[in-house]
Amino acid sequence: MIDRETKIIFNRAVAPDTFLMGLWSREIVAGARPGQFVMIKAGLSADPLLRRPFSICAIQGNDVFCILYRVVGRGTKILSRVTEGNRLSVLGPLGRGFDFPKADQKPFIVAGGIGIAPLIFLAQAINSDNLTFMAGYRHKDEIVAMEKFSLSGMEINIATDDGTAGHHGPVTELLEARLDGPDEDRRVVFACGPLPMLERVADLTNDSCIPCQVSLETTMACGLGACLGCAVKAASKETDVYYHVCKDGPVFDVKTLYWGAR
Ligand SMILES: Cc1cc2nc3c(=O)[nH]c(=O)nc-3n(C[C@H](O)[C@H](O)[C@H](O)COP(=O)(O)OP(=O)(O)OC[C@H]3O[C@@H](n4cnc5c(N)ncnc54)[C@H](O)[C@@H]3O)c2cc1C
Ligand code: FES
Repeated sequence: MIDRETKIIFNRAVAPDTFLMGLWSREIVAGARPGQFVMIKAGLSADPLLRRPFSICAIQGNDVFCILYRVVGRGTKILSRVTEGNRLSVLGPLGRGFDFPKADQKPFIVAGGIGIAPLIFLAQAINSDNLTFMAGYRHKDEIVAMEKFSLSGMEINIATDDGTAGHHGPVTELLEARLDGPDEDRRVVFACGPLPMLERVADLTNDSCIPCQVSLETTMACGLGACLGCAVKAASKETDVYYHVCKDGPVFDVKTLYWGAR
């Protein structure tokens, strides 16, 4: 794990309130696996104090890693205003990443909103035209253009809640439509997005006995297993068994998590 002042190479809007930032760190690039994240100090001053977690979204060459982030509050607003050439304090890569599909498996990637970030890196790493990427958004203006990430060859399907682009409805309907049919037993699913979306993915894949890994985004204070702020309930016969998303995840086998009321 690296803890460094890391130079911003670019920080630009790619959709309304959505930014792509490139940061220079050969060491983080060398150690990063899809699904892992970094903790970034959002500003150049002491305030805000706590670092914010962001998935590693892509790697460019040997030196630059990217984060794709949506402005939702104070930290991300400050982050969106820092300019290239400045340095941010970055800790990472952290957490447990995705296990890659086997060569004979048919991977489906299911992204909801900004949950697309870790899945772009996964798609880059799998780099196969056997891969189907499904991305869901509320409205067409939120769509992050995939051409930016050199994901050539794979099938990319879009869904929007309001029908302004692609399939009209939740992205999980695209997944559901692809879970029956030939090669059923070769399917494997990777997902990241809002909790209701992940709950639906868990239902669909558990019902069909399809292997599935999900990346969770909880609130995090330390990112290192020290504050207990990121606990999620495990699927366990014993009561009160919890995982720390920062250490045990953020990527989990869907069957290891409790999907009832949290
Ligand atoms: C492992 C991990 C990876 C992440 N990867 C990304 C990423 O690639 N891109 C991205 O845009 N975001 C990502 N997030 C979420 C990101 O960390 C938060 O959006 C960010 O910390 C918000 O900081 P803020 O100061 O702007 O918002 P705050 O002022 O702290 O909060 C503003 C609002 O956002 C909500 N919020 C804060 N943190 C989260 C969260 N983790 N999940 C859901 N809602 C939250 C708060 O409840 C509040 O309503 C990730 C989170 C985790 C745990
Ligand atoms: S964020 Fe502190 S224990 Fe996970």
